[in-house]
Amino acid sequence: MTATEHAPAKVNLALHVTGQRADGYHLLDSLVVFTQLGDMLRATAGAGISLSVTGPEAAGLSGEGDNLVLRAARLAQADGLALELEKHLPVASGIGGGSSDAAAALRLIARHSGRPVPGDCLTLGADLPVCLAAKPCRMRGIGEDVSCIPALPPMAMVLVNPRVGVATPAVFRALARKDNPPMPETLPEWPDFPGFVAWLSVQRNDLQAPACAAVPAIADVIAALAGAGAALARMSGSGATCFGLFPDLGTAKQAATLIARAQPGWWVRATALL
Ligand code: C5P
Repeated sequence: MTATEHAPAKVNLALHVTGQRADGYHLLDSLVVFTQLGDMLRATAGAGISLSVTGPEAAGLSGEGDNLVLRAARLAQADGLALELEKHLPVASGIGGGSSDAAAALRLIARHSGRPVPGDCLTLGADLPVCLAAKPCRMRGIGEDVSCIPALPPMAMVLVNPRVGVATPAVFRALARKDNPPMPETLPEWPDFPGFVAWLSVQRNDLQAPACAAVPAIADVIAALAGAGAALARMSGSGATCFGLFPDLGTAKQAATLIARAQPGWWVRATALL
């Protein structure tokens, strides 16, 4: 038996922080998309549950203990699976690598076992429900409230990470305000790429300002994306990865080449959306 499951990158096109619960978790209103670029999870028959991590972004990631893929396998009560995670997404970089990997594990195990995905998957992380959907969504609550959105026009993106880590809890703590306005209750039908960009440009990522204050390289990344012709450049999640939007994959690839040449130390990828 060999099964594979793709774990796409999660990108927050907008991320509004609208409140804070008594337990400290923040209330969000986020427009989330997924990219063709992602990690790959493979499973073969094995004894118990094991995990090996391979691929260009495997460094520093252990296949033991609290790896989210193993926690997902334990939550789903999986058994008899040797899992291999091929990492292509930088770890802890605001594009949901760990959550998307865990969601891929839950999807794969559900398919393999015939049992449904466990209902308490939010315990693995606030991004788990949206990563299980792995398609354009609106995410509210602390991440548990996932709803469909109108169709997005065709577009592509460049993802750039300056290879600097950001501590998510510290970025949330540094927020100047926690009661920012949500996105409009009803999302419009977006006519085309320019119309979508015009609408998105008045939305925000409320975590971008505190993340830039902690990690000034994030502002450099956003400037580089804008300089390479992105119609809109913004940070995803709590950073440090930022995205630039382009009308098609060809122009995104050209911009990625420009940025990678100027900044050989950065992680730069052009990708289509799912
Ligand atoms: O759920 P996850 O492990 O991805 O969250 C990492 C950290 O981000 C949490 O410990 C919390 O500090 C912060 N967070 C938050 N509100 C959310 C999601 C995450 O405060 N809705």
